[in-house]
Amino acid sequence: MDTAMKLLPLFRRELELCRVHPNETVGILTQGLERLEYAQAFSAAAVELGAKVFHVDLPSYQGAGAELAGRVGQTGLGDHPLVVEAFKQCDLLIDLVFLLFSKEQLAIQAANTRILLCVEPPETLARMFPKESDKRRVMEQKQMLERAKTLRFTNDAGTDVTYELGQYPAVAEYGFADDPGHWDHFTSGFAFTGGNDDGVNGVVVLQPGDIVFPFKRYVQEPVRFTIHKGRVESIEGGLDATIISQYMKSFDDPNAYGISHIGFGLNERARWDALVTETRGIGMDGRAFFGNVLFSTGPNAEIGGTNDTACHLDIPMCNCSLWLDDVLVVKRGEILVPSLLPNELARSAK
Ligand SMILES: [Fe+2]
Repeated sequence: MDTAMKLLPLFRRELELCRVHPNETVGILTQGLERLEYAQAFSAAAVELGAKVFHVDLPSYQGAGAELAGRVGQTGLGDHPLVVEAFKQCDLLIDLVFLLFSKEQLAIQAANTRILLCVEPPETLARMFPKESDKRRVMEQKQMLERAKTLRFTNDAGTDVTYELGQYPAVAEYGFADDPGHWDHFTSGFAFTGGNDDGVNGVVVLQPGDIVFPFKRYVQEPVRFTIHKGRVESIEGGLDATIISQYMKSFDDPNAYGISHIGFGLNERARWDALVTETRGIGMDGRAFFGNVLFSTGPNAEIGGTNDTACHLDIPMCNCSLWLDDVLVVKRGEILVPSLLPNELARSAK
């Protein structure tokens, strides 16, 4: 309970950003009695704000594929339709499991329940704690992605890939779930979209220092993905390429080779180097750090697509340049658009 008491002020501020108010109902989901101190702190914070709270703990997931770490979209909540129905009636669901990519999450969101995922360690939550102004910047980025017809990014290692855009919306993650039906991640800080079906072509070459999730591993040598019509056709390189290839192959699923979301990080409080000493969370520092281009493979259900697979790689890349249509938006890892900069950087850029 000590940990929960320490987290209470932080979680109360987070729930205030989520606009929890009196008489709202907040549901909390855990699994296998993990993150109980988070559940206690969120519960106490929600009560302080006048909300009604309930907490459900599911048994540890034993279903198909449970033995394979890193599978997404399979949590066991599907075996509990009554619980899904209860969460649909909530104003806010605190997900302390990881429902992302699951059918159950989409159903709960469709019922206008706000969803907040929280699985990062306390120190990360405190350091990356969201600012109200993050929402403005990430929403601006979302609109830019939705206006663009193409996204192209390059790096010095030979990356040159183009995404045709327009088929799918963009999604904003700014760290708090404030609007009805909005899903968010405490913590985050980027928007992303997806290429049209068959509309991603080119080459992506990872450089040393780029990060591969869920491995939580910095790439040590170049990895070359050849992409044709939205599918990874080949993966070449040394040890890192072999690990990625074997991992994807282990799913025995052609959909694993689809191209997933694309965007770039805006969170100036997130740290590229965090993984050196902190591996407890799922790596939101790496995904959100300022100026990274977040390339990814696998499912696109998150943006409304039909490529359904449990194999998902998120790959934050450093020092890339990115164009939306013909406008250079990120130059070698530096964001050039003033409205996307945090206030401090925007002031010093003047
Ligand atoms: Fe992802």
